[in-house]
Amino acid sequence: MPKTKSAEKKGKGSTKGAPSRLVVVSNRVPDVKDGRVQAGGLAVALEDALQNEGGLWFGWSGKTSTGRPAEPKETDVGPVTYVTMDLSRKDYNEYYNGFANRTLWPLFHYRLDLTSFRRTFFSRYQAVNELFAEKLSWRLKENDRIWVHDYHLLPLGECLRRRGCKQTMGIFLHTPFPAMEVMTYMPAHRAVMKALAAYDLIGFQTDNDMRAFTDYIEYEVGGKVSKSGKVEVFDRTFQVGVFPIGINPAVFERPIAPKELAWARKLRQQHGDKAWMIGVDRLDYSKGIPERFHAFERMLERYPGYRSQVSLFQITPPSRGEVAEYKEIRHELETSAGHINGRFADIDWVPINYINKSYTRDRLTLFFRSSRVGLVTPLRDGMNLVAKEFVAAQNASDPGVLVLSRFAGAARELKSALIVNPYDTDEVAEAMARGLEMPLDERLNRREAMMKVIHENDLDNWRDKYLAALADAGRKA
Ligand code: UDP
Ligand code: G6P
Repeated sequence: MPKTKSAEKKGKGSTKGAPSRLVVVSNRVPDVKDGRVQAGGLAVALEDALQNEGGLWFGWSGKTSTGRPAEPKETDVGPVTYVTMDLSRKDYNEYYNGFANRTLWPLFHYRLDLTSFRRTFFSRYQAVNELFAEKLSWRLKENDRIWVHDYHLLPLGECLRRRGCKQTMGIFLHTPFPAMEVMTYMPAHRAVMKALAAYDLIGFQTDNDMRAFTDYIEYEVGGKVSKSGKVEVFDRTFQVGVFPIGINPAVFERPIAPKELAWARKLRQQHGDKAWMIGVDRLDYSKGIPERFHAFERMLERYPGYRSQVSLFQITPPSRGEVAEYKEIRHELETSAGHINGRFADIDWVPINYINKSYTRDRLTLFFRSSRVGLVTPLRDGMNLVAKEFVAAQNASDPGVLVLSRFAGAARELKSALIVNPYDTDEVAEAMARGLEMPLDERLNRREAMMKVIHENDLDNWRDKYLAALADAGRKA
């Protein structure tokens, strides 16, 4: 990984005086031993961020145990100590598959139709947050900075505070935050929001997400929110802020190893000179993949000249496969790809290459670089790192075009993409065709504008800005 401006700070944190260790807590922690390919923005981004800053990373091992889970395991990799614990089968079912992924995830992505509200899910969610707090609290040092991530751990700060932890603590939400009216559908909304007040800083991906949160504070529970982001509610004072997550563009701009280039050449030969469009998404209903397939089908109907000329590569690593709603979307996509291929395929052309596996970043870079159009059309997404990665990976003198959903956080920054409403099949089909036809000078201008934003707000900036705001919030607390 290329060194960045923060590399010198390794393991020390950035506050003056006594070194302050960074402690990151997230449900998902990369599997450091087997070097598996990660699919999921949180683990990918944090791994980069932490390797530069150093510190401790605490979370779930990704494994379940039949009996009582063993004590957390510690592994040192470079400047980072990973501390991971297994979950019991019941915790996995009711906390991870349950409250996290059948209540909060669909609710936060505006899928009330897929949201389950069960008391057992919520109590297990609280219990696992308590368990994390129990295993983490005695490992903490007095001047640690604690940075919690995402919707799995909203109450962790409160659990740590109850155990007497006085350290500066912040949370960053990688997902969208729902509008007040949507949030209040959840029976436990008040308990969840009250728990969040235990943090010193709550970070969001976009203004919209932060506004949804502060609306709740002001209009649902009568709290006070100042222009500077100071929030007073539930007898606590804390800060809120917007910190759109970035990528490390150098990873996608760098030259690719000859072995990988040979792999890409072979792939190209197999597919002839057809134009490629690409989608890379975890297999998740929030990503709008069925809608994307329909739009591709519509494009082939409306512009028959593209038949046999354009292939869609859809790379979709399976995700949360034990959750019923994820099984359903998997089945739906297999049927839809089969239907479209059955309708249009020819002896030398498969319209949709639907692939259920994950790829390394080098291979993704090659896929991105070989594609004329990148399709990032989620129905709702916190940020969507793939959008930024696709743009960064393009050939600077002959770039492809990004088609981007207005409902991805990335659309707030990548304004020179072709912005679409993923529910509007015709609009997406037209954007696909426009992307394929776009003249070089327009493609160059659009990419240049987007690269400026991607460089200005890269991953280092995101981390540094959040940690500076956290230090500030800690001083004010
Ligand atoms: N990813 C990967 N290999 C794959 C598919 C995805 O490494 O085969 C990575 C991708 O490069 C990106 C992350 O997984 O960094 C997905 O993050 P994003 O924000 O786009 O979506 P999320 O999965 O977090 O909802
Ligand atoms: C999104 C979430 C992350 C999560 C990732 C992968 O990016 O915001 O918290 O880690 O998806 O999902 P998984 O359930 O496999 O951790």
